[in-house]
Amino acid sequence: MSLSFGKVRFISLFTAVALGNSWGGQLSETEKPAWLEAALERSARQYEYLLTKLESEEHAPRSLEGTRLTTVAWRDWTSGFFAGSLWQLHEVTGQTHWRVAAERYTALLAPAQHNRRTHDVGFVLNCSFGHGYRLTQDPRYRAVLLQGATTLATRFNAKVGSIQSWESRNGWEFPVIIDNMMNLELLLWAAREAPDANLRAIAVSHADTTLRNHFRADASSVHVVNYNPRTGQMRERETHQGASHDSAWARGQAWGLYGFTLMYRETKDARYLTQAGRIAEFIMQHPRLPADKIPYWDFDAPKIPHAPRDASAAAITASALLELADYVAADSAARYRNFAEAQLRSLASPTYLAEIGSNGGFILKHSTGNFPAGKEIDVPLNYADYYFLEALLRLRRVRSET
Ligand code: GLY
Repeated sequence: MSLSFGKVRFISLFTAVALGNSWGGQLSETEKPAWLEAALERSARQYEYLLTKLESEEHAPRSLEGTRLTTVAWRDWTSGFFAGSLWQLHEVTGQTHWRVAAERYTALLAPAQHNRRTHDVGFVLNCSFGHGYRLTQDPRYRAVLLQGATTLATRFNAKVGSIQSWESRNGWEFPVIIDNMMNLELLLWAAREAPDANLRAIAVSHADTTLRNHFRADASSVHVVNYNPRTGQMRERETHQGASHDSAWARGQAWGLYGFTLMYRETKDARYLTQAGRIAEFIMQHPRLPADKIPYWDFDAPKIPHAPRDASAAAITASALLELADYVAADSAARYRNFAEAQLRSLASPTYLAEIGSNGGFILKHSTGNFPAGKEIDVPLNYADYYFLEALLRLRRVRSET
């Protein structure tokens, strides 16, 4: 299949009137932010290029191995992000060809709704079918999402008070990873939509258990907590993708920030807002955060300042901060938004934003997937692109309301 698309055109969310300065700093410009529009346009052009490279490929692009595109089927935790990016491009441009592509890459993921072997069913379905349903109201998408939430809930253990993230591995019998907070979004949506109070109770219990056991005094989190599934007792607090059991893996901090922000959105429980604020401060004030605000892959990585960066962690953080800003007082909101904008401006600079036709068709360069395993180091990653787009659209909406 050969895809040939016309010039990218964006729906303007802006009025021509001068924008006020309600949150100060870099966002005081009175004109539409040209850098943001340019970043969105470049992203769209780059994904048009990626689609032409994919042709009849039945799997979603994930990353690059050298110059070889790596792709993934519905079992992979990253399989929903490409469809999610396509839906977001459809939303911002209004162009049909993005919807056609999004529908195609979403449909491939339907089997995930019955996958009981991982918590990642939340990531996979929420980012693909979730956007699809939000934008089209197609009842078939709704049915897949509701089934996916029911499937995810089967991984809940009432003794532990958590959803089991992975099957047993590395000597962990019941591993729960900080990333799992992201999967609660699907549960909470389904709890409202079904409605099903049990799904909501599971999400709240999981968040509360994570709040109790994953965090250190400085608000950083460990990656993995292992439990005894028969007694509920906490066993080890360790890492899988971080530099050490005691380190602060950058993407893990971002997942926690995003996860507790969405828990506050859905429950209005002040404990979640407080935790999100504490994580935000840990990230924003970290002495080893580089000047461009794109973290090293772990805040405690060896070889800093020569350690690889993780653009995905920055994109997730920026998106989360832009939502968190909506829930706090004006001075904190301004700090969060300015920090997020600084991150996004860095990601939109030539250092991180790929030239059209380069980087295998992905939008961002310089992410790190799993450093300790020697996998996906300093590469593009589909989830970096997804959260970059989400954050740009969140910032764009804020600007349109200012
Ligand atoms: N959820 C896996 C990761 O963040 O790499």
